[in-house]
Amino acid sequence: MNRRKFTDWLLRITSIPVAASILYPVLRFFKQPEVAEGTATTVEAATTDELPVNGWKIFRFGTRPGILLRISEEEYRAFAATCTHLDCIVQYRDDKRMIWCACHNGLFDLSGRNVSGPPPRPLEQYRINVVGDKVFVTRT
Ligand code: FES
Repeated sequence: MNRRKFTDWLLRITSIPVAASILYPVLRFFKQPEVAEGTATTVEAATTDELPVNGWKIFRFGTRPGILLRISEEEYRAFAATCTHLDCIVQYRDDKRMIWCACHNGLFDLSGRNVSGPPPRPLEQYRINVVGDKVFVTRT
């Protein structure tokens, strides 16, 4: 095998993986996802044993986070957990009894209303259904 034939052979062999590495991402980009994202309207967010009074948790609502609060023995509230300012994830401050965004010190009351800081709108509120020991959250 002379140098020219060796170079031809080497180019043919390496061109297949190079072409595949270019085409595969392009084809994946155009292919539809198999499961639609975020189509669930009701999720099981927690069990009643999981949250004490004044407790909270972040749960998944499709591809987005939600925040579930236990206000009293009987009362729960749930909201979208993405801040209405720049989409940081909010958390519950039990010392203030407020929902707090650590990114720019935004505060929301227990109805989800923006009360101080830069958030321009209230948090989206979800509906709660407690069935047995399960807490279900529904997007309206
Ligand atoms: S992102 Fe929440 S206050 Fe700025």
